[in-house]
Amino acid sequence: MRGLLILAGLLVSTSLLAQTPAALQEKLKAIAADPVALRAAVDGGKKVTFFCANCHGEDGISKTPEVPNLAGQNPAYLLEQIRKFGTGERKDPFMQGLIKVLKDDERLQVAAYYSSIPVPPSKADAAKAAQGKVLFTKLCVRCHGEQARGAELFPRLAGQKVPYLQTSITRYRDGTGIRNNQLMSIATAPLKNDDIVAVANYLTQLP
Ligand code: HEC
Ligand code: HEC
Repeated sequence: MRGLLILAGLLVSTSLLAQTPAALQEKLKAIAADPVALRAAVDGGKKVTFFCANCHGEDGISKTPEVPNLAGQNPAYLLEQIRKFGTGERKDPFMQGLIKVLKDDERLQVAAYYSSIPVPPSKADAAKAAQGKVLFTKLCVRCHGEQARGAELFPRLAGQKVPYLQTSITRYRDGTGIRNNQLMSIATAPLKNDDIVAVANYLTQLP
């Protein structure tokens, strides 16, 4: 009997090591709702992301066109993408390897930290941006929002890098398997390559 109890205890503690994605998202919400916990998570995140800054830039503002800004991104989306790299649902050889070393608590800290930093808009081609606005309003606003600032389930797109946006949108449209999301496959299906360039120019200059 005693042995069984010890075994049960061990099983419980092992299951606590890796929390379910939903439980982790709940924990993230709880942190966001508690100013003291949030402060601690943001501070922890700054340390954890020391290495990430090599590519994602100081404070999550990328200087490399193909590397996304993480600053200003919504925390639930960040946590979800970290999970997807971890399981291989989203593919990037480097990110997949790197993310595996992040423990659950560190993932929460990363999400809290980057989402706490404002992201500045970038320059764009004005004519293309105007064209992109029309497409975005027609095809994308209902999920990503009027200002493209996203919501819990939808990423912020405002201020993101043009080349990264172009690559990501094209991947969803073409069903390459690198990024899979049915909502995004449907939404991007009508876009021609020039449309994608236009939408990316519109999004990057939004504050
Ligand atoms: C060697 C460069 C490099 C380093 C270092 C790096 N990343 Fe990345 N990261 C990338 C690239 C490139 C992408 C875009 C992959 C793609 O094309 O989908 C990316 C994408 C991401 C995304 C998805 C963003 C989005 O908008 O969907 C997250 C989240 C992320 N990285 C977190 C991190 C964290 C946390 C660290 C540090 C532990 C880190 N990265 C370190 C290059 C890097
Ligand atoms: C029905 C809802 C919906 C619509 C409409 C939609 N999106 Fe999305 N979008 C999503 C979701 C959900 C994700 C996250 C998918 C994932 O996990 O890969 C996403 C992700 C993205 C990303 C990746 C962001 C990043 O940081 O990597 C880009 C870029 C994007 N959408 C652009 C667009 C554009 C442009 C349109 C209009 C042509 C559009 N979306 C329409 C739901 C939508």
